[in-house]
Amino acid sequence: MELLPLWLCLGFHFLIVEWRNRSGMATAASQGGCELVDGLADCRGQNLASVPSNLPPYSQTLILDTNPLKTLWNHSLQHYPLLESLSLHSCHLERIGRSAFQEQALLRSLELPDNSLSESYKETAAALHSLRGLRRLDLSGNALTEDMAALMLQNLSSLESVFLARNTIMRLDDSVFEGLGHLKELDLQRNYIFEIEGGAFDGLTELRHLNLAYNNLPCIVDFSLTQLRSLNVSYNALEWFLASGGEAAFELETLDLSHNQLLFFPLLPQCSKLHTLLLRDNNMGFFRDLYNTSSPQEMVAQFLLVDGNVTNITTVNLWEEFASSDLSELRFLDMSQNQFQYLPVGFLKKMPSLSRLNLNQNCLMTLHIREHEPPGALTELDLSQNQLSELHLAPGLPGCLRSLRWFNLSFNQLLGVPTGLFADASNITTIDMSHNQISLCPRPAGVDRVGTPSCVDFRNVASLKSLSLEGCGLEPLQDCSFQGTALTHLDLSGNRGVLNGSIAPLRDIAPTLQVLSLRNVGLSSSFTELDFSGFGNLRDLDLSGNFLTSFPRFKGSLALQTLDLRRNLLTALPQRAVSEQLMGSLRTVYLSQNPYDCCRVESWGTLQSLHTIVDLAMVTCNLSSKVIRLMDLPEGVPQDCKWEQVDMGLLYLVLILPSCLTLLVACTIIFLTFRKPLLQVIKSRCHWSSIY
Ligand SMILES: *[C@@H]1O[C@H](CO)[C@@H](O)[C@H](O)[C@H]1NC(C)=O
Ligand SMILES: *[C@@H]1O[C@H](CO)[C@@H](O)[C@H](O)[C@H]1NC(C)=O
Ligand SMILES: *[C@@H]1O[C@H](CO)[C@@H](O)[C@H](O)[C@H]1NC(C)=O
Ligand SMILES: *[C@@H]1O[C@H](CO)[C@@H](O)[C@H](O)[C@H]1NC(C)=O
Ligand SMILES: *[C@@H]1O[C@H](CO)[C@@H](O)[C@H](O)[C@H]1NC(C)=O
Ligand SMILES: *[C@@H]1O[C@H](CO)[C@@H](O)[C@H](O)[C@H]1NC(C)=O
Ligand SMILES: *[C@@H]1O[C@H](CO)[C@@H](O)[C@H](O)[C@H]1NC(C)=O
Ligand SMILES: *[C@@H]1O[C@H](CO)[C@@H](O)[C@H](O)[C@H]1NC(C)=O
Ligand SMILES: *[C@@H]1O[C@H](CO)[C@@H](O)[C@H](O)[C@H]1NC(C)=O
Ligand SMILES: *[C@@H]1O[C@H](CO)[C@@H](O)[C@H](O)[C@H]1NC(C)=O
Ligand SMILES: *[C@@H]1O[C@H](CO)[C@@H](O)[C@H](O)[C@H]1NC(C)=O
Repeated sequence: MELLPLWLCLGFHFLIVEWRNRSGMATAASQGGCELVDGLADCRGQNLASVPSNLPPYSQTLILDTNPLKTLWNHSLQHYPLLESLSLHSCHLERIGRSAFQEQALLRSLELPDNSLSESYKETAAALHSLRGLRRLDLSGNALTEDMAALMLQNLSSLESVFLARNTIMRLDDSVFEGLGHLKELDLQRNYIFEIEGGAFDGLTELRHLNLAYNNLPCIVDFSLTQLRSLNVSYNALEWFLASGGEAAFELETLDLSHNQLLFFPLLPQCSKLHTLLLRDNNMGFFRDLYNTSSPQEMVAQFLLVDGNVTNITTVNLWEEFASSDLSELRFLDMSQNQFQYLPVGFLKKMPSLSRLNLNQNCLMTLHIREHEPPGALTELDLSQNQLSELHLAPGLPGCLRSLRWFNLSFNQLLGVPTGLFADASNITTIDMSHNQISLCPRPAGVDRVGTPSCVDFRNVASLKSLSLEGCGLEPLQDCSFQGTALTHLDLSGNRGVLNGSIAPLRDIAPTLQVLSLRNVGLSSSFTELDFSGFGNLRDLDLSGNFLTSFPRFKGSLALQTLDLRRNLLTALPQRAVSEQLMGSLRTVYLSQNPYDCCRVESWGTLQSLHTIVDLAMVTCNLSSKVIRLMDLPEGVPQDCKWEQVDMGLLYLVLILPSCLTLLVACTIIFLTFRKPLLQVIKSRCHWSSIY
């Protein structure tokens, strides 16, 4: 009798599945805490101590992540012969019975990361060997050494992806990946690999993606994995990267050598499809001065290659090697955070397809712009944080930066740029010239033109949308500095006096501006309040760190979403009506660090209820000599202020009364002094003895 409900349940369950399959709708059912969707059973975090046996027998995917299984017993998966994918993340697994997967002939993907499989790795290896069709195996984070890994992977020739990240592998020899002829992807990140023997990857003829990031490799010489598409050796200790010579065609497309200790530009294959080369954060430079040669052609390096008891000395002509490497398809080159002081003539010419070049944080002092250098395809150029004091533009080079869209020159020592540089860059949208001491054209009348460098002209750069001129020491703007542009983003912060007290010079671009930053420009509103009425598209306005005493006006510009008024001299909040209108579109307002008068914050309630003030807790006001957080202000501020006034009256009375009394006594004494006889009368009556 008691079996009946169970049968009913099971029947019902099958009905659900049948109905779902027929109707094509994916509805989730649940079984003992596991979510069931189509052939997938998701039992994540159910505190299971063993594999549940009551899941649908046709399950194809089983997720048992974060259950404290500890052991995967023999035959515990026998109810699920159709299993194709099994996930056992973080299950404290120490042991996998050698017959655990015996019935899982169809298993394609097995995920075992973050367990303790090094504990009884031999039994686990034996279990894995029954998986003849396995394609994907994740053994990350299991404290495996190279020998354990080798044993586990032995004869699993069907594998296509193997993940061995976060283990304790130290060296690779030709036995570790033996027989994995179908392997396409191998992840060895975050191990302790310091040595890779020649031939370790030789059997992996299908390998496409190899990740060796976060290991301890000191160099890669004789790199010869021609079939590889991407190689990641970032975060190692590489001093050299040297591809094997010869004219073998490499499939290499992406090479990440960032965060190493490379001294020289890597010596790359002579024939490859490289499109992304990442060299960030190394010690690279071109060492003309060190070699004291007039041209880089004479730079030579000698390698001492020690292999067992054989020592070979290889002499490499760095420039010739570089010149013979194939960079014709390179699109992205990141050389940031290195020691480049200059780029040799012809360096960039080798990369005709280059579209993004990142040279930030180097020691470049001058940059020569010549024909095809940088190449015409370049769209992004980052030269920020160098020591550039000059850009040279070869004469007669019209449109040399015609594809350039994004140009970052911030944090250099430029005093100007070659005339017409920006005007020629007909596709440019973003220029960052912040933190260079420049002046804009036209110069204010009366400024001494002799001996000062030429001005930078942004007028009529029609494509320009975003311009940063923060901290450029700009002189007061003339009315037409941005004429002929349709700027949407402008940053003039940190240029004291650049607006000379009025935002009139921005009139030309007022209709298009969306983001305007006027931090620390010395604006004041003591004579007239600032009027942003014409700025119909303004979304984001930063006016912090100025001397504003009254709220700017925004009539009509209802697009405003973010307003920063911190560090000004505001004493009153805007009128209720104003704030209501203003707050219609505003989402973010900063109001703190202003000396508001607590008796003039009536509209505080309105503002507060709009939930747009981000620094609410930091807005304070002055009540006589006290500073009070506006949030702590009691209801009905005006009464408090009246009380405060009464209080002040009393205080004055108390302060004045003693003075009056003292004055009175003093007067009396003076009066008496001059009426000596009277004093003497008093004296005589009182029998005082004195010189009087
Ligand atoms: C449900 O349908 C899919 C194909 O749409 C099929 O592969 C699966 O075996 C079906 N499941 C059941 C329980 O019939
Ligand atoms: C699995 O079965 C084998 C014998 O076939 C036995 O030696 C082993 O201890 C079992 N392992 C587990 C985890 O039950
Ligand atoms: C691996 O395969 C080789 C030859 O195919 C065989 O001799 C060896 O016993 C196999 N090893 C394991 C652990 O199955
Ligand atoms: C190389 O690996 C590191 C570490 O995992 C990663 O941050 C980086 O994005 C990878 N590089 C590429 C080109 O994918
Ligand atoms: C570099 O070479 C020139 C001659 O070629 C020589 O006059 C100069 O002293 C050398 N400088 C250094 C630093 O060796
Ligand atoms: C180099 O070492 C191998 C063994 O590792 C030895 O057979 C050979 O004689 C050695 N050669 C020399 C030149 O010492
Ligand atoms: C050393 O050079 C010889 C001949 O140039 C070459 O056959 C041998 O493979 C080289 N050995 C190493 C370790 O590079
Ligand atoms: C300018 O950019 C547009 C698209 O943003 C592109 O179609 C055009 O080819 C570019 N012009 C040049 C000269 O690169
Ligand atoms: C330009 O580079 C500087 C420093 O590298 C960076 O802070 C700034 O955001 C960059 N400018 C743009 C527009 O991305
Ligand atoms: C700044 O403005 C004042 C009047 O508003 C004007 O007299 C002065 O010439 C301006 N200074 C510059 C450098 O434009
Ligand atoms: C407000 O109080 C602060 C701190 O006591 C003081 O520095 C400031 O001058 C006061 N401002 C006004 C307007 O009273």
